[in-house]
Amino acid sequence: MINKSLVKKRFEKSLKTYDDNAIVQKLMAEELIKILPLKNYDNILEIGTATGILTKEIKKNIKFKTFYANDIVESSKEYIKKIIPEVNFITGDIEEIKLSGSYDLIISNACFQWCSDINILISKLKEHLNDNSILALSMFGDDNLKEIKAVFNMKNTFNLPDVVKYKEDKIKLYFDTPKDVLRHLKLTGANALKEFKFTKSRLLKFEEEYKHMFSENGKVYLTYNPVYFLISKNGIE
Ligand SMILES: C[S@@+](CC[C@H](N)C(=O)[O-])C[C@H]1O[C@@H](n2cnc3c(N)ncnc32)[C@H](O)[C@@H]1O
Repeated sequence: MINKSLVKKRFEKSLKTYDDNAIVQKLMAEELIKILPLKNYDNILEIGTATGILTKEIKKNIKFKTFYANDIVESSKEYIKKIIPEVNFITGDIEEIKLSGSYDLIISNACFQWCSDINILISKLKEHLNDNSILALSMFGDDNLKEIKAVFNMKNTFNLPDVVKYKEDKIKLYFDTPKDVLRHLKLTGANALKEFKFTKSRLLKFEEEYKHMFSENGKVYLTYNPVYFLISKNGIE
């Protein structure tokens, strides 16, 4: 089960450092726009906007009339207003809030992995799609941060929806030390999976194990596994 108050707390804290560290999320936002069918989308809803990495790509590439944005973290609104001043911002957990109206495009980058039941959420969102509308999602697959999961002996906590994926990628980032890996995760808010207290000896053990298992050419690596979905009201694109 996802701990929503921890997700909120971690992202609230990391928004200031997010842009400089969310290297993969930025690539994913660009890719999501690339795979989107090219047309005008009058009414857009973006879910999990954070600092607006995807919002900027939408503004650059898509013609729209009304733009709705949502994030569980209220301060995201200030970032989005700077990009699209006329934004209609809805603060809250997308799984809980009541939506009204319908959209030509519902889009979300690197957010749905923080939701508890993606299939129920997708059904809910489909009710707010017009007949020719699209729900475009990027999130993370089973191999995401697999090195962290291996060292901490964590089971996979990300669930993918029961729809066919459009495409997936594997991206490896390289860091000088295992501590830098942890810092990177903290600065992007991705440490919201678990509240983890490190003792000195646990940290040392983590560093040793990570270095031993996941080193290449004097660096340590971390794998990201972005997955993309294009879903229409009646099925898959
Ligand atoms: C990794 S960030 C992705 C941000 C942005 N979409 C981008 O392209 O960089 C995930 C965002 O989703 C938000 N989020 C997580 N769970 C959410 C939920 N249940 N409802 C709404 N927003 C949520 C977080 O607060 C965070 O701002």
